[in-house]
Parts: sequence; structure tokens; C-alpha cells
Amino acid sequence: MKVKVQICTGMFCSMDGGGNPLGRAIQQALTDAGVMEHIEMWSTHCMGTCESGPCVRINGEKFYHIHQEDVPQLVREEILPLIEA
Ligand code: FES
Repeated sequence: MKVKVQICTGMFCSMDGGGNPLGRAIQQALTDAGVMEHIEMWSTHCMGTCESGPCVRINGEKFYHIHQEDVPQLVREEILPLIEA
């Protein structure tokens, strides 16, 4: 089963450094790791937790305050283990 990665592209997350640029950074990191075939990734409207943005949801679990500099750790600790499980 593919790992589902949702990127909030709502206004608040986008203004705070999330949204499409964050999605591209995550996609690039996953591409570099050679695992994109295991990933289903899409953008979403506001997830309803703007004050904790930028927000990302991975297999239904929400992660908060995710900025570009957090992408390597997010991929390594939260996404890759789901693929390898
Ligand atoms: S804009 Fe991202 S949670 Fe509201």
C-alpha cells in the first residue's frame, strides 16, 4: 500500500512557508531517496489547524510546523519507515 502524503496548500500554511514549495521539497527528497513509486502525494485545502502550520498529513497523522529545513528529518523518520514496514 502506498504512503499517503498530503500537503496543506491553504492560505495560512502557504504564507508561513508551507504549501506548494514545501510539497516540492518533500517530493524532491522522496525522489532522491528513490521511493516515489511507494508514495501517493497531493495537496489539500485548509486542514483546520492553521495556527500550527505549515501542516502535512502522512497516512492520516498530522504533522505541524513543517518547514523546508524539517523535510529531511520528516522523510527519514516519518515516511521512509512506513515504506520499509
Ligand atoms: S491553511 Fe493549512 S491548516 Fe489552515
